[in-house]
Amino acid sequence: MNITVRTGKIQNLHTNILCVFLFQETKKGEDWLREVDRVSGRRLAGILNTGDFKGELNETVLVYSSDKSSVKRILLVGMGKKREFNGEKARQVFGTAAKQAKSLKLKRFILCLTGISDGGLSPREISHYAAEGAVMSLYEFTKFKTEDTKKITPVTEIGLYDTERKNFDEYRSGAEEGLVFAKGTSYARDLASNPGNTVTPTYLAEDARKIAKENGFKCTVFDKAKLSKMGMNALLGVARGSSEPPYLIVLEYKCGVKDADTVALVGKGVTFDSGGISLKPSKKMEEMKYDMCGAAAVLGVMKILKEIPGKLKVNVIGIITTTENLPGGKALKPGDIITTYSGLTVEVINTDAEGRLILSDALAYAVDKYKPDAIVDLATLTGAIVVALGHYATGMFGNNALLLKKVSTAADKSGDMVWEMPLYQEYDEHIKSSVADIKNSNGPGAGATFGAAFLQKFVKKTPWVHLDIAGTAWDVNEKSYLPKGPTGVGVRLLARLLMDWK
Ligand code: BES
Ligand code: MN
Ligand code: ZN
Repeated sequence: MNITVRTGKIQNLHTNILCVFLFQETKKGEDWLREVDRVSGRRLAGILNTGDFKGELNETVLVYSSDKSSVKRILLVGMGKKREFNGEKARQVFGTAAKQAKSLKLKRFILCLTGISDGGLSPREISHYAAEGAVMSLYEFTKFKTEDTKKITPVTEIGLYDTERKNFDEYRSGAEEGLVFAKGTSYARDLASNPGNTVTPTYLAEDARKIAKENGFKCTVFDKAKLSKMGMNALLGVARGSSEPPYLIVLEYKCGVKDADTVALVGKGVTFDSGGISLKPSKKMEEMKYDMCGAAAVLGVMKILKEIPGKLKVNVIGIITTTENLPGGKALKPGDIITTYSGLTVEVINTDAEGRLILSDALAYAVDKYKPDAIVDLATLTGAIVVALGHYATGMFGNNALLLKKVSTAADKSGDMVWEMPLYQEYDEHIKSSVADIKNSNGPGAGATFGAAFLQKFVKKTPWVHLDIAGTAWDVNEKSYLPKGPTGVGVRLLARLLMDWK
C-alpha cells in the first residue's frame, strides 16, 4: 500500500473520489467546502442546504460530480459532534470512507483532512489514524479463495490531502506510523486467519526466522530435544497429545542505547486447542485455530519494530511458546503431575487449561535468562474473560502499578482497549494442589483471575502484565476498521508501548 500526502488547491485535484469529513457543526459556508462544491459542478450545495446530511458519526452520502469535473465523486462522511471526537472515532470515519471506495472498486482514493483538526486532534494524530483506519478496514483474507478472486480489486494508493501546506511534515510522519501499525496488525490477522493445518508450530518458527533475518535480530528456536534437556516439561507435556513438534521461539532486538531497559513479550501460540483429553464441545471448536493470537501479536510487533518512526529506546525480547493441544494416545491426562522449568510442580486438573502450562515455562525462562525490566504476556487464556468483559476490552492483570499504568496508557492511545482485573493475594490459596505445588484449574468463579494467579507464580518479582485477549482476538463487535474475523489485537498496543517507553 502506498500512502501519499499532497497539498494545494482543490481545483487541481484529479481523482475518482475525494472523501470529505464533516462535523455536525461544520459550516457549509467554509471556504474550502465552497471550493469542493465548485469542483463538483455545484452538486454539493443542494445536499448541504437541504440539511439531509447531518454529519452524524459514520453517516455517508455519495455525490457524483458534473461530467467535466476532475473530481468524479465526492463522499461526505460525518464525524459527529466536535467535542465528542477522538482517536477512536477518527479511525472509524477513515475506515468508513476507505470501505466505500473499495466497494466502488476504486484503486485509489483521496482522504481530505481539511477541517478535521477542529475536533482537537493534532495533524500527526489525524494522519496516523487515517492511514491506520483506512488500511485496517481494507483487510481481507483471500489466500484460500479460488473462485471469486477476479472480483477483488485491491486498493493500491491512499492519498492524504489538505488545502494548506503547513502541516505537511507532520502528516507524513503520522501516516508512516499509522501504516506501519496497520501492517503489523494485518500480518497478525493473516497468521490467525490461516487454519490450523497451515499455521502449525513449525510455521510460526519459520516465520520467526524470516522476521529475524529481515531485521537482523537474533533468533533461537528450541526444539523438542533441547526443550527436554532444559526441563520445559509443561510445554512438552501439552505437546504430547499431538504429532506436530512444539517450539519455544526467542527473538532478540537490541536498540543500541546504553543502559536501555529490556522488555520481554511472551505470546501463547496454541495453533489448535481441542482441549486435549478434557475435550472441548464441537460447537465453535473451529475457532480454536485462533488460540495462537498472543503469538501472532508478538510476531506482528517484532516484524514492524524497525519500521516504527523514531528510534526505540528499549531492548525487546519476543518469546513464543507454541504447540497443538490434541488428545493423542500419549496426551497429558487429568491428574498427571509435571515438573515445570521453574521447578514448581503442577497437578493437571484440566488438560484444556493448557495455555497457562505452556506460558509458565516461557515466563520462567524469560526471567531466568534475560532478567527483563518488564514482561508483558498475551494469551487467549480463558473463556471466563469473555464472560466478564465481552468483546470490547482485553483483561489486564499485573503485579506492578507503574507497568500497569504504562500498558493502559498505551492501550488508550492505540485503540486496543484494556480493563484491569483484580489479582489479590487471596486468590493464590485456591490454586494450591493437595498433591503438587499448584494445580492448573479450580472450582467455579474468577476463571480469568485464577489463570493470571497461576502465571504470576512464574514471574517472581519481575514487573509483569498479563493480557487475556480471549474476548478481543476475533469476532469483536464489528467496526469499519475491524471487519469480521481475527483483529490482530495487541500489535498496536505493544507498538505504542515500546515507542513511548521511558
Ligand atoms: N483457549 C482457551 C480459552 C478460550 C476459550 C479462548 C474460548 C477463547 C474462547 C483455553 O485454553 C481454555 O480452554 N481455557 C479454559 C480454562 C479452564 C479449563 C480452567 C476455559 O476458559 O474454559
Ligand atoms: Mn484450552
Ligand atoms: Zn487454549
